[in-house]
Amino acid sequence: MLLPTRIIYLAETESTNLHLLQSPDLLEINGLVVTAETQTAGRGRRGKKWETGPKGQLYFSLCLHTSGYPCPDHSFTLIAGLALAKAFEEYKTPNLSIKWPNDLLVNSKKLAGILCEGFSGGMVIGIGVNLIGEPVDFGTEVQNKITTLQSATNLIKTPTEVILNFCGHFQKCLQKIKLNGLDSSLKEWEAISSSINSEIYFEDQGTWKEGITKGLGPAGELLVESCGKLTSLFSGETSLTPPPLD
Ligand code: BTN
Repeated sequence: MLLPTRIIYLAETESTNLHLLQSPDLLEINGLVVTAETQTAGRGRRGKKWETGPKGQLYFSLCLHTSGYPCPDHSFTLIAGLALAKAFEEYKTPNLSIKWPNDLLVNSKKLAGILCEGFSGGMVIGIGVNLIGEPVDFGTEVQNKITTLQSATNLIKTPTEVILNFCGHFQKCLQKIKLNGLDSSLKEWEAISSSINSEIYFEDQGTWKEGITKGLGPAGELLVESCGKLTSLFSGETSLTPPPLD
């Protein structure tokens, strides 16, 4: 299978993830990508919104049938993050890092986010990339927290170029995992990550704690040492800066 097997272009949809998840016929097409110029209800992790930015940003979802891959569902977020980082490295994006589990950062500012949602037999891998313009062109609530590919590299890339670039790397990562398991991809992920041997704040049963990240466990879980104890995070919120007190 050559990724993507097909691309559907939409002018507008609520969410490209939702569009796929609500279309049983489309979910049958392994490797299908759905992309939209605008999302009216873009979804982020943990019930957050993914706001539509100024025209020209990238929103897409890939349908992947996951049987035959020797890795747990939640690790597809890491694999997609690794492939996206490799795509951005081709554009010589400086100071690129991956923040566990799903953020692509440049100088600690968010360049892209990933939301994987499961369905029977597969995963919908949803990716939002801030492609074009400067952070000031985005909403006031996000402009201090984000960057764009154009701002980081001075390059203007079309949504299709980035989708094809990502898919090429994702395909290679998946082939490697099918042949050799997840281990070497997790090592590659660690090498690009800001989440290794660094101070981190993480949510543990509703309370924020401070710890030092110790790398990934065999299933892609984040290992954090805090108060002399090693905790494995399979999901949840992490922050590189102290979380707001509320
Ligand atoms: C996050 O950082 O919390 C994940 C954001 C994922 C956003 C993308 S945009 C395309 C796809 N469709 C959605 O509704 N969400 C993902």
